[in-house]
Amino acid sequence: MQEKIRDLNERREEAKLGGGQLRIDAQHKKSKLTARERLHFLLDEGSFEEIGMLVTHRSSNFGLDKQKFLGDGVVTGYGTINSRLVYVFSQDFTVLGGSLAEAHAEKICKIMDMAVKNGAPVIGLNDSGGARIQEGVVSLGGYADIFYRNTRASGVVPQISAIMGPCAGGAVYSPALTDFVFMVENTSYMFVTGPNVVKTVTHEEVSAEDLGGASAHSTKSGVTHFSCANEIVAINNIKQLMNYIPQNCEEESPTETYDISSNEDRLKLNDIIPENPNQPYDIREVIEETVDADTFMEVHKDFAENIVVGFAKIGGKSIGIVANQPAVLAGVLDIQSSRKGGRFVRFCDSFNIPLLVFEDVPGFLPGTDQEWNGIISNGAKLLYAFCEATVPRITVITRKAYGGAYDVMNSKHIGADMNFAWPTAEIAVMGAKGAAEIIFKNEIKSAENPTEKLQEKEAEYAELFANPYNAAARGYVDEVIEPKDTRTKLIKAFRMLSNKVDTLPKKKHGNIPL
Ligand code: HXC
Repeated sequence: MQEKIRDLNERREEAKLGGGQLRIDAQHKKSKLTARERLHFLLDEGSFEEIGMLVTHRSSNFGLDKQKFLGDGVVTGYGTINSRLVYVFSQDFTVLGGSLAEAHAEKICKIMDMAVKNGAPVIGLNDSGGARIQEGVVSLGGYADIFYRNTRASGVVPQISAIMGPCAGGAVYSPALTDFVFMVENTSYMFVTGPNVVKTVTHEEVSAEDLGGASAHSTKSGVTHFSCANEIVAINNIKQLMNYIPQNCEEESPTETYDISSNEDRLKLNDIIPENPNQPYDIREVIEETVDADTFMEVHKDFAENIVVGFAKIGGKSIGIVANQPAVLAGVLDIQSSRKGGRFVRFCDSFNIPLLVFEDVPGFLPGTDQEWNGIISNGAKLLYAFCEATVPRITVITRKAYGGAYDVMNSKHIGADMNFAWPTAEIAVMGAKGAAEIIFKNEIKSAENPTEKLQEKEAEYAELFANPYNAAARGYVDEVIEPKDTRTKLIKAFRMLSNKVDTLPKKKHGNIPL
């Protein structure tokens, strides 16, 4: 018996060494942790249970039979984060560059299947040279098996990807199918075709970092939601995110107990909106003042900054926030901000996270660039996402709610449950000047002093519409509130809505304008 136990332990030790100490040292030299070290920092101490530690590939192509490593380049299993179950896979770059083939893919698929059956999130730590070239088509098949499961699991259990090394070719599509992508600055990249192919095809010279590093994907493409200074920051951010999201689509997010009797007035909110309606302010100040202290976690922070999205707790409960950002492009809605907002709304709706919208939007961004690149169908994504959402939904109009953007930003008409407006709200088809120029065009033209006439008509229009009271008179706004009371009103309203039941008409699935 002792002999057999020693044999087992030797195998385990061999598996833990992955591709060997030299390659582990090389990994560390690149400021990268190993697959197992990453899991050590991610999971509660002692909670990790490995599955498939002794799996090996079955190929003998190109000398692979002499390159067998226990585990086949990916560490898989389950553990807990803050005592909540998660399934994990962590690719081991020290084994054949973390490349993926038949057995490696089977291990990932196995834990994904378990995650769906048992209703817990899947977290994938990616660090791989892509399809294992020696194994040929089975590598491609392995990827497709994962893509299929990513898609089937979408909206059933949360899926989180961290990119902690290379991620190229079709391999990028698994992270892209998951709910949140974290990238590590300077040591990770994602692209469909690398710099060499780019140079051959388009004659562009670009580094891997510029083409597909964390900065490119967090600011330009929006592929990554979180750009992290190093791996530990990325891992801590994943753990933080877990505090806001439920285990699966049938459950609620973790809740902290909260005593509503304490003073919830937030006097600072009364002073945030500038006197001049054209002056910007930072909507994050409004968010921070409204939600529970230090709970706002911004998502997609550096992408389409004219809209702010993220999670927070209010009265101890998780909410998703979508807010126009007047400090960037006056908070206008454009293609990228509509995509960003729409995807976030759909995540929250999939996982029972109530939505809070702060609205200060002058409309959609005009111009040929926007029209030709599809502001119509992209704007429709945000509209569709709100219309379809059945979670509790509340809007606070802080200032401008103009034009189609008024409808889109979670208006009462598209199913919001409670709409509040601050006294500074302006709810109209457009700004007073533009409106006066159109509807009083002839009167202004024929006036003795056209400038004076325009100002007079502008004031008339502003008097009628640059306020929340017309909308309140029709019930489009449920209540006009003093800004300082916003927090109390929201805590009460979200509690009131906590048993909301709303269902969509029977269908196979909707057809969101992709
Ligand atoms: C087999 C691979 C591998 C791969 C790396 N290795 N990628 N083995 N298949 N795809 C091995 C190397 O041979 C080496 O083995 C070890 O991993 C480390 O690689 P290095 O090149 O020494 O490391 P580094 O200099 O850091 O470069 C990393 C790299 C480079 C940029 C990822 O290895 C590389 O370009 N690899 C090929 C990438 C690629 O073209 N993949 C296919 C993409 S297409 P030893 O034994 O020396 O340690 C794809 C399609 C997916 O993935 C389709 C899905 C639908």
